Amino acid sequence: MPIKTKLDASTDELENAHQNNELELDLFLEAVFRKYGYDFRSYSRASLTRRIKTQIERLKLENMCQLIHLVLHDEKAFIEVFDHMTVNVTEMFRDPYFYKSFREVVAPQLRSYPSLKIWHAGCSTGQEVYSMCILLKETGLYDKAQIYATDIDPQVLEKAKKGIFSLEAAALYSRNYHDSGGLHTLSDYYTARYDNIIMDSSLKKNVIFADHDLATDQVFSEMQVIICRNVLIYFNHGLQDRVFRLFSNSLDYGGYLCLGSKESLRFSDCYKLYDTLNSKYKIYKKTHQHDLFSLQINR
Ligand SMILES: C[S@@+](CC[C@H](N)C(=O)[O-])C[C@H]1O[C@@H](n2cnc3c(N)ncnc32)[C@H](O)[C@@H]1O
Repeated sequence: MPIKTKLDASTDELENAHQNNELELDLFLEAVFRKYGYDFRSYSRASLTRRIKTQIERLKLENMCQLIHLVLHDEKAFIEVFDHMTVNVTEMFRDPYFYKSFREVVAPQLRSYPSLKIWHAGCSTGQEVYSMCILLKETGLYDKAQIYATDIDPQVLEKAKKGIFSLEAAALYSRNYHDSGGLHTLSDYYTARYDNIIMDSSLKKNVIFADHDLATDQVFSEMQVIICRNVLIYFNHGLQDRVFRLFSNSLDYGGYLCLGSKESLRFSDCYKLYDTLNSKYKIYKKTHQHDLFSLQINR
C-alpha cells in the first residue's frame, strides 16, 4: 500500500474541506428554495459563495449550518440575507455608449411601430429605467411606449418606484447622460432636495414595476425591446440559456435584445435567431422565427 506523505495528507484535507463547503452551500440554497421559492441553485458559485460568507460574518455566525437554521426559522433575517444575495449596483446611463448606440441605431427603427412594449429585466433600483424613459422622451417614442420594469428583489423595486436617488451620484449620472448623446441637461428631469434627487414623475407615467424571477417565472408578454444588463453575469450557463429562451419567446419578430457589455448571446442556441447590431454594447435584433417547441423553458 502506498505511503501517504504529509503533503498528500494536507491536500486531502483541503479537498475534503472544499467538498464540505460545497455541500453546505447546496444545502443552504436548497433550504432557501424549498422554504421561500427563490432559486439561486444555478447562480455562478464563486460570487454567490463570497456574498454568503460576508453574511455569515455580518451576522457573527460560526458557519453555514447556523445560517441555514437562521433563515429557516426567522423570515425577517432571511429578507436581509436575501437582499445581500443579489448584487444591486446600478447607475443612470450606465455604459453611456450603449445608450448612444440605442439612440442612434435602435430608436429610429422603432419610430414606425404604432405601439411599443419594453421590458427591463433585473432593473434594480430603477436608474436604468429612468434613463431609458428620458431617451424615449427625447426621441419622441415615450407616449406610445409601455415599459415593464421587473426584478426578483421587492426591496429594490420599492426604491425604483420612488425614483429618488442620492445627490452625490448626480454628477456621474449627468456626465453619463451627456456622453450618451442627451439633448438637454439631466437636471431638467429631476428636482434636488436635501441629499437626494427626485426624478420627474412624468417619467414613470408609462412604467409598471413588478416582481419577476428570471430563474422560475415564465414569459412576460410580447415585447419589442428587452433590456437585461449586468444580470446574467451572476448566472451559470444553464440558467443563462433558460433566460435566453424566455427572452426569445417573449420578443416579437424584429424585436431588440440588449445585454450588458460582459454578457453574450453567442454561446446559446438562441444566437442563430438574431443579428448582432452592436457587438461591443451587445445589441441584438431578432431576425429569425423559431419553432416554439425547440425553445422549451425548464421550470
Ligand atoms: C447588478 S444589478 C443590474 C441592474 C441594471 N440592469 C444595470 O445594469 O445597472 C442586477 C439585478 O438583477 C436582479 N436579479 C438577480 N437575480 C434575478 C432573477 N433571478 N430574476 C430577476 N432579477 C434578478 C438583482 O436583484 C439586481 O437588482
